[in-house]
Amino acid sequence: MKGIIYYFSATGNTKWAANKFKDNFKKEDIVVEVKSMEKADNIDIAGYDFIVIGTPVHAEAAPKFVMDFIDKLPEGQGIKAIVYSTQGANSAAAADIISDVLEKKGYTIMVQTYIKISNNYYFGVGKEPTLEKITKNLSEAEKKISRVTSEFIKGNQYKNCVSLIRIAMGKISGKSFNRYLPKISTKLTSTDECTKCGLCLRNCPHKNITFENGHAVFHTYCMMCTRCIHICPKNAIRYKGKKIKQTQKSMIKALNLR
Ligand SMILES: Cc1cc2nc3c(=O)[nH]c(=O)nc-3n(C[C@H](O)[C@H](O)[C@H](O)COP(=O)(O)O)c2cc1C
Repeated sequence: MKGIIYYFSATGNTKWAANKFKDNFKKEDIVVEVKSMEKADNIDIAGYDFIVIGTPVHAEAAPKFVMDFIDKLPEGQGIKAIVYSTQGANSAAAADIISDVLEKKGYTIMVQTYIKISNNYYFGVGKEPTLEKITKNLSEAEKKISRVTSEFIKGNQYKNCVSLIRIAMGKISGKSFNRYLPKISTKLTSTDECTKCGLCLRNCPHKNITFENGHAVFHTYCMMCTRCIHICPKNAIRYKGKKIKQTQKSMIKALNLR
């Protein structure tokens, strides 16, 4: 068996999980390639026996960036799929929504699951994740990934599902959030501590950042992925004028951003 994992990860959680899936498959001599959706120019699934899709949750749903990628995937022709989301809460509608689209494209959903890690947008909604909580979540996440991979290898289906009402609400909340994004962009600013190192500018998934008058400037294509906030070496990016504790500092290293 040979598989491919396509993930989007703004601040490392979803990439961390992708690597854990890879490690678990490797233990069973199953080769899995791990590819970022951001770098996937030509999406190819030919020659693979299964595909894994990993997404963070933004407002209950997957970011538009991920849904656009799903739309571009070729017809599945029965190929097996694993769909997982990472999020701050126990569950979300994102994986159900993606699975639904993939099924219509002819993929066979074998695993659909949610992996709780940490909320990188705690300063917008929710609570700041403590190091203790993150460590506990990672340990639980590791066990869950090992369990679902093992079920998949045995040929068993493993599906976590939210209610139909929650799926419907998730679709609405995802769409409303997308409409609100240009306004959210205006809440980002940078301070004089910005050294124009370019890390945020080079790695913004939507190319939303430029340098003007000695500062990072945020335009209206922001997807509020929070990467720039968590990656800034000087912690010089403000949200609604507030300094944000960079709780993703260790997870974001998984992305090897330069
Ligand atoms: C704009 C935004 C909205 C979010 N909404 C939710 C949400 O509705 N439910 C949830 O549990 N987590 C939510 N999160 C938290 C992320 O899903 C979570 O931190 C995820 O693991 C980040 O993955 P990444 O590090 O791979 O980008 C949100 C994060 C962002 C940036």
